[in-house]
Amino acid sequence: MILSNLPRRVGPTSDGRIPVLARNFLMLWYSLDVKPAPAIRSARSLVRWRRQFETGLEPIDQQHRELFEALARLAADLEAGAPRGQVDEGLAALARHLIKHCQTEETLMKEAGFADRIVHANQHQDLVLQVRDLQHRRTKGQELGLEAVASVGEWLDHHICESDLAMAGYLKTLRTV
Ligand SMILES: [Fe+2]
Ligand SMILES: [Fe+2]
Repeated sequence: MILSNLPRRVGPTSDGRIPVLARNFLMLWYSLDVKPAPAIRSARSLVRWRRQFETGLEPIDQQHRELFEALARLAADLEAGAPRGQVDEGLAALARHLIKHCQTEETLMKEAGFADRIVHANQHQDLVLQVRDLQHRRTKGQELGLEAVASVGEWLDHHICESDLAMAGYLKTLRTV
């Protein structure tokens, strides 16, 4: 239904009745269950790249986008009930992107003499271990849930907004990237 075709007045008429067309539209609208399940909605929102993640350092930003693309593909595969091998490959791709990205940042921090590089690298190690643990669980036959993928997205979101932006701020003052 095209909204502009609705009568401009959708509230009660002067005699207190709701016009038939508007009433039918509202009945149809409320009868539609258009809201996705909370877990899926949550997973989607947590694996979506956001403009707030931009550090201004293109190599880093590009890798962050790739990480969220890998997460989004994995979430979509889980949602679609993709074959086990495809999910495993999606998880392996995520691990590869993550390890490459951590190495990139850690090299830049070391070269720049960034004071918080050890704390930052320990945070990376924590996430890499989480993803490795998910892979290990898969080899034991366990299922991968959307909530696990959302948890990785949430972790990345927090890490980028806190640690990566601080790191990028320092690197940009040195103009080494
Ligand atoms: Fe980082
Ligand atoms: Fe990062």
